[in-house]
Amino acid sequence: MYNILDEAFEKRYAVPQFNMNGLIWLESILKTAEKCRAPVIVGTTDKIVDELGGFELLAQVFQNMKKNLGVTVPAVLHLDHGQTVDRCIEAVNAGYGSVMYDGSKLPIAENVNNTSKVVEYAHRHRVTVEGEVGSVGGTEDGVYSDLSYADENECIQLAEEAGIDSLAPALGSVHGKYKGEPNLGFEEMARLRQFTNVPFVLHGASGISDADLQKAISYGHAKINYNTELNIAWSEALRKVLTENQELYAPMEILKPSKHALEVVIEEVIRRTGAYQKAMI
Ligand code: 13P
Repeated sequence: MYNILDEAFEKRYAVPQFNMNGLIWLESILKTAEKCRAPVIVGTTDKIVDELGGFELLAQVFQNMKKNLGVTVPAVLHLDHGQTVDRCIEAVNAGYGSVMYDGSKLPIAENVNNTSKVVEYAHRHRVTVEGEVGSVGGTEDGVYSDLSYADENECIQLAEEAGIDSLAPALGSVHGKYKGEPNLGFEEMARLRQFTNVPFVLHGASGISDADLQKAISYGHAKINYNTELNIAWSEALRKVLTENQELYAPMEILKPSKHALEVVIEEVIRRTGAYQKAMI
C-alpha cells in the first residue's frame, strides 16, 4: 500500500477503493483492475467482515482469488472504518495490507492515542494506517451518522502525532445517496493541504461529479472510496433480471447481469480517478 499511495499522491491521481459486499464484488474488482492495469484497494467494513466470515477467511480468499485470477496489478485488502484498536490488530494479524482506525467520534486526544497504537502495531508489519477526523455523514452498513466538518488543527494533530499514512478529513462528503448536490469544502481542503503532506482519502465518493473529483485529487486525495455506486448498479441489474424472467431460478444466471454491471462501474471509476494503466509491474 505504501508504494501505491505515495505514487498516486506524487503524480496526482487516486487509487480507488471499492468496498466488497460478497465474493461477486471481489471477483469483479480484481478482474477489472487487472484488465485496466490499475492499482486497486478492496475495502471491507468492520461490519461486513463479520457478515462474510471474519478477517482470516477474507484474507485467505483475497489471496487465493488473486492467485486464481492471475492478478499482477497491486491489489490491497483494507479494513474500512475499523471500530476499535483490537479490530485493526486482528486485521493486521490476518494479513490485511492496510487498516483504517475510525476514532472520529472520540475527543481528539483519544482519537490520536488510539490511532497511534494502531500505527505502532501496523507499521511493524508493514501495514498502512488511515485515520479520520470529523464525521463523513450519511448511511453505511445501515448505520446513519451526521456530517460534521473536520477541524483543521485536529487534522494536523492526528497526522503529526499519530504518524498515519493517510488522512480522511470529513469535508462535506457523505456515505450513501446524496440528498441534493454534494457540496465539498474545497477552501478547507486547500488550507489543510498547506499544513500537511499526508495523502488525503475521500469517503462518500459515489455521486460526486467528475469536476469535483478532479479538484479533490488536485488537493492530494490519493485514495477515493466507492461503495454505493457499485451497490446501486448491482441491485438495479438484479431487480431487472428477476422482473423480466419470472421463471428463472438458477443463481449463476440470475447474478450474471449484476456481475457485469459491477464490472462496468468499476472500469468507469478506474478511469475517472486516473488509476487506469497506472499499475507498475
Ligand atoms: P459511498 O457510499 O459514497 O460509495 O462511499 C463509500 C465509502 O466512503 C466507504 O468508506
